[in-house]
Amino acid sequence: MGTAAGLIVTAPVPWRMWLAHPFAGTLLDFGENPDPVRLRLPPVRPLSMMARLGRTIFFYQGLSGSGRRSCASCHSPAHAYGPPDAGPVMMGGPHLRSPGARAVPSLMYLERQPAFSVGPDNEENETVTLAQLVRRGLAAPRPVKTAHDRAATALALVPQGGLFWDGRADTLQAQTMGPLLNPVEMDNGSVAQAAARLARAPFAPVMRTLFGPHIFADPTQAVAEAMFAVARYEIEDPSFHPFSSRFDAWLQGKARLTPAEMRGYLLFNDPAKGDCAACHLDRPTPDGRPPLFTDHQYEALGVPRNPALAANRDPHWYDLGLCGPFRTDLKKDTRYCGMFLTPTLRNVATRHAFFHNGIYHSLRQVLDFYDFRDTNPGRIYPRAADGRVLKFNDLPARYRGNVDRVDPPFNRHLGQKPALTKSERQDIIAFLKTLTDRPFEPRRLCRAPNS
Ligand code: HEC
Ligand code: HEC
Repeated sequence: MGTAAGLIVTAPVPWRMWLAHPFAGTLLDFGENPDPVRLRLPPVRPLSMMARLGRTIFFYQGLSGSGRRSCASCHSPAHAYGPPDAGPVMMGGPHLRSPGARAVPSLMYLERQPAFSVGPDNEENETVTLAQLVRRGLAAPRPVKTAHDRAATALALVPQGGLFWDGRADTLQAQTMGPLLNPVEMDNGSVAQAAARLARAPFAPVMRTLFGPHIFADPTQAVAEAMFAVARYEIEDPSFHPFSSRFDAWLQGKARLTPAEMRGYLLFNDPAKGDCAACHLDRPTPDGRPPLFTDHQYEALGVPRNPALAANRDPHWYDLGLCGPFRTDLKKDTRYCGMFLTPTLRNVATRHAFFHNGIYHSLRQVLDFYDFRDTNPGRIYPRAADGRVLKFNDLPARYRGNVDRVDPPFNRHLGQKPALTKSERQDIIAFLKTLTDRPFEPRRLCRAPNS
């Protein structure tokens, strides 16, 4: 055995094994990645004509009922294409006074989001052969999500993929029709009205060039092409997937983490501690693509009801995610009620509203939720007049069985010691901050990689 430095250059060692190594402490102090990887990053190319048109439309406010909303108003480029302020939801509609019912997600890192499906729980959610799985399983135990093992079959069928918190759109193009027509978002009223606004827009000539002189004769086609262009922008523009965070640099052996960040990373992965990586996958895929910090699957976490949401003034209204009300095709599949898409954690530290209903406004609150939901629910949920803690108060009682009580840290009980201490929660937050991308500089496009 050599020194810690020797360890770094020898064959890749799964993190659990090197943790057990006598020099692990030294490695931790160095903050280096003992097993650097070569990441396959998306190519950086000039935008196509189509994507350039899409960029114009993305920032164009004339495409809204109010004349003051564009995609960028809610998905702000300066805020990781997420909401620009701390409100739980954004205002839209004709006078920008109609509140949405859900937090605005970031639009970054969606280009690898698979279409919605209900299928086998693939360990990495990537196409991996069984042989590869076995080999990797032998080499490196990683936290494996257990919630779905309740099903009797070895290959439990789990909902995965899709866009929106409930996966109701499959492609970025299909998705854009939603906000365009949604009365509390861009509020175009009808496809015909949206098409008329496109026909009056300064970029209408570009649309005629790209899609033919008669494009505006068919309103549905005109809107579909415009939304295709927006989707191309989201897919092609490097600002949606820069992979420029310190964690990406660390993965490639080009940066060190501070001791707090390093501890946070290990807690994030440790099934006896945060176990976050069981759902927010943090390892590169077998073919070297950077991790997206989501398994693209759905979970019911039972986050508290958000009294700040206008929709919640009606005590009988519930946002049940996969089984409605915005999504309608799975209404009868009540075992999915309360399930929401696991979001990416990339750039999560730039957000000010967390979870599908925007209930929390700081990562500290989010970490408290994970740690105390079961061990001390009185810290998380409101109380009834008689003092009872109203646990899982954002779900009707009949669906509370859907909430994940199996995956750590949710496998604990009332009064048990929480999985994480205060300083451990702080360490995890320090780690989450390493997932923030560098501010995007378009000039980097024209420079040689090393200049
Ligand atoms: C008024 C605010 C608002 C505007 C304007 C808006 N969005 Fe959104 N967007 C949202 C909200 C809220 C959601 C989540 C809705 C849900 O899950 O039901 C969302 C979700 C999305 C998603 C899915 C993201 C994911 O992680 O699944 C995409 C993609 C998207 N919007 C793109 C667009 C585009 C393109 C435009 C312009 C045509 C646009 N949005 C305009 C608020 C807005
Ligand atoms: C069993 C799967 C699972 C585990 C384990 C898990 N998460 Fe999550 N995480 C989710 C899901 C699902 C959501 C969205 C839930 C919702 O909005 O109702 C979420 C949301 C979040 C959010 C909010 C992101 C946003 O954009 O609003 C943060 C932050 C987060 N998780 C961090 C963590 C950390 C830190 C841990 C470990 C302590 C962890 N998660 C463990 C599934 C999981």
